[in-house]
Amino acid sequence: MLYRLAHFLRDKLSWAWNIVEWLNGLVFWIRYRKKLSAFSFTTIPDGYDLVPLSIIPSTDMVLFFNHQPEEAYTYFMPHGFDEKSIERLQRNRAFLGYVLVDKKNSKIGGYCFNRCFFHGQGFRGRMVDIDYRGKGLGTAMNKILNEVGFGIGLRLFETVSKNNVASYRSAISASNVKIVKEMPENELYLEILQG
Ligand SMILES: CC(C)(COP(=O)(O)OP(=O)(O)OC[C@H]1O[C@@H](n2cnc3c(N)ncnc32)[C@H](O)[C@@H]1OP(=O)(O)O)[C@@H](O)C(=O)NCCC(=O)NCCS
Repeated sequence: MLYRLAHFLRDKLSWAWNIVEWLNGLVFWIRYRKKLSAFSFTTIPDGYDLVPLSIIPSTDMVLFFNHQPEEAYTYFMPHGFDEKSIERLQRNRAFLGYVLVDKKNSKIGGYCFNRCFFHGQGFRGRMVDIDYRGKGLGTAMNKILNEVGFGIGLRLFETVSKNNVASYRSAISASNVKIVKEMPENELYLEILQG
């Protein structure tokens, strides 16, 4: 319900969405800032640095998104991919975004986020660079999102298409999941379970 309302506001009433997003970020920050500052990751894959989205130059993120083939966006449409949209996400304190940077060449291998809501829910999303697919980064990023999300006490959700085999399998591999709802067009609304 909340997820659908968020999508409706984002797509149809962008001015209202901006206000809701700002307020949500503020209340989320007040509620979770202490837990977030006490939290540290233990699940970073070897050979990568985990860097918060907020300190990555937005131009690097645009290059990352431009480097992905069209098919990568079939099931991945969480936000705009231009500099302005990325900078807005970077200012949003309820948007916990991270990138995995390859230590060998400083390239971004993957991007993931928990889009959080002040009342204690987070929605996961991830994208692995086309040159880094099939190496376990998708599954690793799910673990990263679980670690921080559960670490600060959120309930985590995501939508995944059964047609997006890699995404569905990496969601299952890294987590116990419960199907909350079967949605149209083969989409599943999942709750990620702890442990
Ligand atoms: C979904 C995505 C993140 C997976 O990333 P990845 O790093 O390639 O995935 P992993 O290497 O961690 O593999 C995860 C699982 O999918 C399987 N898999 C990976 N690529 C596959 C493919 N092309 N076809 C079938 N299965 C595949 C792996 O074997 C693995 O399964 P297992 O855990 O049962 O062994 C990546 O394909 C992607 O960025 N897609 C575009 C964006 C997107 O759709 N994001 C998800 C929606 S939020």
